[in-house]
Amino acid sequence: MQDKKWAEEIWKKIDTKLEKVAMRSAHKLPYTTDASNVHIDMQQKNITWWTNGFWPALMWMMYGATKKDAYLSSAQSTQKILRTAFEKYDGLHHDVGFMWHISSGVQYRITGDKSARLEALYAANLLAGRYNADGEYIRAWNDNNDGVDNSGWAIIDCMMNLPLLYWASEETQDTRFASIAIKHANKTLANHVRPDASVRHIVEYNPKTGEFMKEYGGQGYAEGSSWSRGQAWALYGFVLSYIYTKDKKYLDTAQKIANYFISSVCGDWLPRCDFRAPQTPIIYDSTAGAIAACGLLELAGCLEENSGLQFKNAAVQMLRVMEHAFCDWNIATDAILQMGTERYHGESGRHIPIIYGDFFFVEAIAKLSGNWTRNW
Ligand code: GLY
Repeated sequence: MQDKKWAEEIWKKIDTKLEKVAMRSAHKLPYTTDASNVHIDMQQKNITWWTNGFWPALMWMMYGATKKDAYLSSAQSTQKILRTAFEKYDGLHHDVGFMWHISSGVQYRITGDKSARLEALYAANLLAGRYNADGEYIRAWNDNNDGVDNSGWAIIDCMMNLPLLYWASEETQDTRFASIAIKHANKTLANHVRPDASVRHIVEYNPKTGEFMKEYGGQGYAEGSSWSRGQAWALYGFVLSYIYTKDKKYLDTAQKIANYFISSVCGDWLPRCDFRAPQTPIIYDSTAGAIAACGLLELAGCLEENSGLQFKNAAVQMLRVMEHAFCDWNIATDAILQMGTERYHGESGRHIPIIYGDFFFVEAIAKLSGNWTRNW
């Protein structure tokens, strides 16, 4: 079947299922699901959990694309719950970009709601406040009170938080936000991206000088390995930095990471959790594939048609295979994309649905089927 027609069919399945889930989960901030594939709510357990914006964001995207009441009502009620996370300042982290850029940020962009604009700007200020001006990086996490000094830690995932800063500069006509984003992107390019275009998950800098100290394997297999979701964050993140700045080095970097990602998955197009882990056990991470597919589609759109086609085709191939192997279309259950993995090590959090897997899978299909343009 032709790609567009296929995407339109999958889009219909998404809408049929999510319209039901929107009502069932209208008062939850879902992360994963229970054994019956029913959303588990994070609002009591951890209101500042980094993924808490994905469900309202998914609802805003579906509302923007369909204008259906079920999505609007779920988006509004869950956005209201998410807002209470601002009260926990010391629990917040660099992922305020994930939390608010695509939730209240999209709400503002599609409805013009002024309070949503303020929420997104408030989040941008929190993110800008994490910038280490001596080291020229955005600090990832807060002190965990575990004896580890993580003040010099920056992680590849932060590339996806930068659009909040670029947007804030455009919105306020104040260059400070974008200049922080650019400094961080340049630092990441120089220190996270290896010569073969694989990327490090965690890099530790000297917080007083910005000197590279060491890398950590983070959620991947080990130091020197290649955590696939990190590769996907980098791929999509550098494309987005290019879109906002038009700096060609970000586009070139995204292209190299994309080629590396494609060569790492093109056996069966089902992403493993780490591209440099031992062959067995096979640990999949569908979320890496969904994020990378979005990055590949956006990358293709930045290039001349014949250079971009290979990236678009790779995205479609991966989505088709994942749809066949990993999607649950039962309207009585909550999550669509199964087989996400939080991290390489540890039996828990392996081969489970994770909310951002659904978010990025839907984003990719929404774009391919022509129902949506961009969240970021
Ligand atoms: N940002 C954390 C993760 O990708 O799991």
